[in-house]
Amino acid sequence: LAENPLLTDSRYRALAGSQFSMLTPENAFKPQFLHPRRGVYDFRDADLLVRFARANDMKVHAHTLVWHEALPNWMRENDDPEEVRRTMLRHIATVAGHFKGKVAEWDVVNEPMSDDEKSYTNGNLGLRSEQSPWYEAMGEDYIDEAFRAAHRADPKAQLFLNEYGVEEEGERWDALYDLIKRLKERGVPIDGVGFQNHEYTPGDRTAPETFRSHVQDLAELGIQARVSEMDVPIGEDEKDGRQTQADEMAGKLRVCLEEPNCTSFSTWGFTDRYGSTADTKIYPPRTADSLPWDTDLRPKRAYERLLEALRAAP
Ligand code: XIL
Repeated sequence: LAENPLLTDSRYRALAGSQFSMLTPENAFKPQFLHPRRGVYDFRDADLLVRFARANDMKVHAHTLVWHEALPNWMRENDDPEEVRRTMLRHIATVAGHFKGKVAEWDVVNEPMSDDEKSYTNGNLGLRSEQSPWYEAMGEDYIDEAFRAAHRADPKAQLFLNEYGVEEEGERWDALYDLIKRLKERGVPIDGVGFQNHEYTPGDRTAPETFRSHVQDLAELGIQARVSEMDVPIGEDEKDGRQTQADEMAGKLRVCLEEPNCTSFSTWGFTDRYGSTADTKIYPPRTADSLPWDTDLRPKRAYERLLEALRAAP
């Protein structure tokens, strides 16, 4: 973290007014690390990040309370629905309670939409079902319950639902939008939607104007939006890859700056040195070209374009 150019680069610091910047923990707030055994919590890494953020005048966007991944084994072992529900509610109450007043925002539910096409036609309304112990136990109601519990534990925190693959048009976005509408109709305390914006392959590049229309659709529902986990891995032989990467990132940032209900923009990591898209299945691991700073912490074209977009902000 001491190497983070966000904190050492004077050009960026000049832009960073009080609490202008926001830190998202990549892994430290996930249940597998925070809650390794039933009732046993380890907040050390997460607390360290919160202190680091405070010392550097950054807000914290905490990630994540309820997900089907990054679960400790014990959380998957019980399948008594009432017990699963109690586990989820206790986890939320304890974790969001611990960070009450210390984090600005929470990803309450992460990746609730299904990857399986049939979930969009078989009555599941596009929700991830069998992979998620939470859905298995409670159906869609797990989402309502999770947001209500997070709100009880930390009434001032802004509460988000975070999802990938919803920047473009299609049934996945439609189903997510319908879900948000249902949640609002039921009075669920949800404040915003995070668009992850992982663009792992050339086929994943997305149009900023489509993203804008989704942000605007959410505004009509009284819902905020944010770019939560952007990275644009480019192929070694991808022609003009760095330029594409820069355009993709700056395009989304520009939309976010222009739309009043878009509240933040975050990349998933900042330097390829520690990027999560590195190929770790080979030895030595091959780092990817995905983020605004390269493996030697040198800013790339994407960094320059992001900076230009910030400077041109309305
Ligand atoms: C990833 C982390 O970056 C990796 O270090 C970890 O091994 C797996 O999880 N969507 C999310 C993030 O919401 O939590 C994921 O983070 C990336 C995809």
